[in-house]
Amino acid sequence: MNYIHKSFDSIDQLPEIGKIVVKQAQAQLKFAYAPYSNFYVGAAIILESGEVYGGCNQENASYPLCICAERVALYSMGAQMKTFNIQALAVTAHNPRKKLMEPCMPCGACRQVIQEYESRQEKPIDIYITAYELDKILLIKGIGAILPSSFGKEHLI
Ligand code: THU
Repeated sequence: MNYIHKSFDSIDQLPEIGKIVVKQAQAQLKFAYAPYSNFYVGAAIILESGEVYGGCNQENASYPLCICAERVALYSMGAQMKTFNIQALAVTAHNPRKKLMEPCMPCGACRQVIQEYESRQEKPIDIYITAYELDKILLIKGIGAILPSSFGKEHLI
């Protein structure tokens, strides 16, 4: 798959930044609120400063109001700082009814939001993707690799 920069067989193989952010995404799984889908997602971001922000999916009885883990992590950081430098983002997911055999890719909406944050900081983000009970971790260098020909601010201003 040409959008994958590198595939790792274990968290031990990751660079230090990757280890921190993946571990935090895994830790976020326990806070996921997913009583409707029973699909638990954890995410985390790490800034150049070393600060880490976590997120997890937050569902609602009014289904369209559900929000993904990636966006919770990004927005919770974005709500507290105007300028930032995100080095890496990690996502993991747990489906108790079905062992995920492949890392869980971010949905289209989250890809678009990740792109906005890259555009704000004018720097691509390393994206680590994995899944619960899976040792495999994929590294994607910049959202452009999985969101080509995208819509962005250049269309507006
Ligand atoms: N979900 C995420 O948190 N991130 C994604 O990238 C894909 C989907 C959540 C949303 C919803 O709570 C559940 O997974 C099932 O779609």
